[in-house]
Amino acid sequence: MKYPLLVLLSLLITSSAHAANEQQMIDESKQAIKAFAGQLKSELMAGMKKGGPLEAVNICNTVAEEISRNNSKKLGWEISRTSLKPRNAKNSPEPWEVAVLTSFEKRKEAGEPISEIDHAEVISNNGQSQFRYMKAIPTKSLCLVCHGENIAPDLSRRLDQLYPNDLARNYKPGDIRGAFSITRAIQ
Ligand code: HEC
Repeated sequence: MKYPLLVLLSLLITSSAHAANEQQMIDESKQAIKAFAGQLKSELMAGMKKGGPLEAVNICNTVAEEISRNNSKKLGWEISRTSLKPRNAKNSPEPWEVAVLTSFEKRKEAGEPISEIDHAEVISNNGQSQFRYMKAIPTKSLCLVCHGENIAPDLSRRLDQLYPNDLARNYKPGDIRGAFSITRAIQ
């Protein structure tokens, strides 16, 4: 009777090692998102201070993607933002992200605070194991200047020029604006 016990024990140890690994990747993802979000916010605020929302839009337009690219390069994994209603079509979600974003909407409807909504999963993509992590982004009042229902006419025109397929309008405080999304290849 000893053998099955050993098997059980080693199974338990392996699965708890996996759990520990996953917890570590979740913690690292949260840290990376904090840094990424901080950089985006400081660029946004610097733009607002320099020339109001019009200037800030120009900065978001040119700098957001660059910040995302630089962070991804530094980390060795992908970090980006996405949304069910993206402003920049380049931020459109892929199918797995659509499913997670949809589940986030349901969790919010069920009363979960947006700041606590996240999801981690190990998935297989073309035979490659990937750790995927998403964290919901709440809509705050500051965001409404450019993502709300009453966007100033000059700002609205500028957004139309830059983003002819802009879907990221008419948000209200307390909506989920989108999510940070992380993809890490694992062995
Ligand atoms: C000054 C205008 C402005 C403000 C204020 C602003 N945004 Fe944006 N936001 C933009 C622009 C422009 C883009 C498109 C960036 C790009 O081209 O990648 C964008 C893109 C995004 C995206 C990426 C997905 C998408 O829609 O393309 C998210 C997520 C986002 N904003 C969240 C927020 C949140 C949360 C706030 C408030 C903390 C906020 N934004 C405030 C202008 C703004």
